[in-house]
Amino acid sequence: MSEKRVCVSDFEVEARKVLPKAVYDYYSSGAEEQVTLADNVAAFKRWRLIPRVLRDVSSVDLSVSVLGRKLNMPLCVAATAMQRMAHPDGETATARACRAVGTGMMLSSWATSTIEEVTSAMTSSPGVGGVLWLQLYIYKDRALTLSLIRRAEEAGCEAIFVTVDTPYLGRRLEDMRNCFKLPSHLRLANFSTDSLAFSEGDYGSDSGLAVYVGKAIDPALCWDDITWLKKITHLPVIVKGVLTGEDAARAVDYGVDGILVSNHGARQLDGVPATLDVLEEVVEATKGRCDVYLDGGVRRGTDVLKALALGAKAVFIGRPVLWGLACQGEQGVLAVLQLLKDELKLAMALAGCRSLSEVSRSLVRRVEVTSRI
Ligand SMILES: Cc1cc2nc3c(=O)[nH]c(=O)nc-3n(C[C@H](O)[C@H](O)[C@H](O)COP(=O)(O)O)c2cc1C
Repeated sequence: MSEKRVCVSDFEVEARKVLPKAVYDYYSSGAEEQVTLADNVAAFKRWRLIPRVLRDVSSVDLSVSVLGRKLNMPLCVAATAMQRMAHPDGETATARACRAVGTGMMLSSWATSTIEEVTSAMTSSPGVGGVLWLQLYIYKDRALTLSLIRRAEEAGCEAIFVTVDTPYLGRRLEDMRNCFKLPSHLRLANFSTDSLAFSEGDYGSDSGLAVYVGKAIDPALCWDDITWLKKITHLPVIVKGVLTGEDAARAVDYGVDGILVSNHGARQLDGVPATLDVLEEVVEATKGRCDVYLDGGVRRGTDVLKALALGAKAVFIGRPVLWGLACQGEQGVLAVLQLLKDELKLAMALAGCRSLSEVSRSLVRRVEVTSRI
């Protein structure tokens, strides 16, 4: 009988026990010394919540509008690749859990289920209703990239999150040591050839994924490609991986429909700031011209609340979903999402906020953390 899981880290502890080492390492690692990996989580502890009292919090409304859709909470699922390594149902389980709880899922280009399988799981399962967005890597082969976009449009995805922080793969040391590659029964399901599906036998003595990215992903990606994307799809385009006000302002000038402040879960350039630490700068730079979202290190309802107070419209979680998936498939993901939802609802009530419109900058205060927490 497993222990009762009462916080996200309880799921991680159990996931670590059930996952093969190379899979756990791939999911959990950051780049190089993992300075940013730790900082993404620590940044939330540098802020205190300043609650208001006597506000009748008998009813708290978490609903929010994200990219034209009403969601039941401002917490969505970020793209994480290769979810069938965690559970045989992989991305389809995550989609069903999102639908059950009424939130959005960003599907990785590197999913081990096809776009069509996941959209069908999202639309045909019972639940209050979720929404699917495609995370897009831009391949050197633009015709291939375009075909991913067209398939997403046809299948019913409602936005494209284009990842802009991965011209090359970051140095993830455990993956290099493990010569990480997909287990032989899996492939990146949206691609037909073995080389694009990351299922060739031999990637040498490096991280197989780093070799794959070097071969397939376009390091020449630049602002003109945002113009190209905006031109060829009617779907909203959100840039994923912005960390400065300057790039945020530029992205808005290029007509993006949203900005996701992200450092790729600290898996790309180690030593960049925690996402929470640059959120306000990005929000200010956009001057309200588009919505700003955040991911990285969100592990508690209070983390969500702090990010919202600093200007995020909604936040995304990556690894916690993988831990839920590894523990118990769809039910595990649902449990993680429900847990964070409950935590957020309680945090809002205890802070005196009845709806997201009452979450404002005055709810948080930065502190110098000197003691160990
Ligand atoms: C195992 C793993 C795989 C990921 N795969 C992708 C991906 O395919 N595309 C992408 O844009 N980001 C990917 N990311 C980054 C996430 O979308 C997100 O930015 C990050 O996980 C958020 O941080 P968190 O894990 O601390 O919540 C991945 C992250 C992890 C941990």
